[in-house]
Amino acid sequence: MIDTHAHLADKRFNSDREEVIKRAWDNNVEEILCICSDYAELETFSELLKKHDFIHGAIGVHPHDSSGYNEEQLITAINDINPSALGEIGLDYHYNHSPKDVQLEVFKKQLNIAKTRELPVIIHSREAMADTLKILKEENINNGVMHCFSGNEREMRECLELGLYISIAGPVTFPGAEKLKSVASIAPGDRLLIETDSPYLAPQPVRGKRNEPSWVKYILEELSELRNVPRDELERQTAGNARSLFNFNKK
Ligand code: NI
Repeated sequence: MIDTHAHLADKRFNSDREEVIKRAWDNNVEEILCICSDYAELETFSELLKKHDFIHGAIGVHPHDSSGYNEEQLITAINDINPSALGEIGLDYHYNHSPKDVQLEVFKKQLNIAKTRELPVIIHSREAMADTLKILKEENINNGVMHCFSGNEREMRECLELGLYISIAGPVTFPGAEKLKSVASIAPGDRLLIETDSPYLAPQPVRGKRNEPSWVKYILEELSELRNVPRDELERQTAGNARSLFNFNKK
């Protein structure tokens, strides 16, 4: 399995980070894409990438932090890390921690860096799908993933038309997540990714706990049931998709 979205440098892993990583490896997680969207985590993040061959990096400024966007700092980090993707970036109109216009501007700027560097993008979109899709279209973005997808079927089709992947996280396991379950059951297999978004969004069997990459298995199990596809086949398919989107070998 490949966990395509984990915040392993988050301080909530400070007391037992290496145990968490070992549990992932012991539970058949072959690669982890670790996301750094907070400069305070940069040092821990960069050490993790050096230490573990199966942990890869993505870096970008989260929409929450758009107001503090510093392009020079981002470019320096990209040059140092040589990441497998740029992200997570996007729009979050639920929290609106940064004003909308600033979020829009910073999102566009980072999309342009991704294009210049030929990096896939990891998109965070919360209660902002219309604007997100509009910008992705305007900027001709066709290389990336909608992280923790939460849209409807029509929005999924628009993302697919752009050429993007759809990544399914823990909420698909929640009872009552009918819309997401239905979208996850029909998303084309060659565009599907799985992720934990740890330490957030622990899946149903462990809901409320600190999430971790080894629990990506619960998402795979749920998808296997929803799609009526054997677990090992889905595992191969989603891992193959992750490897073709993210150039893990470049590290
Ligand atoms: Ni995230």
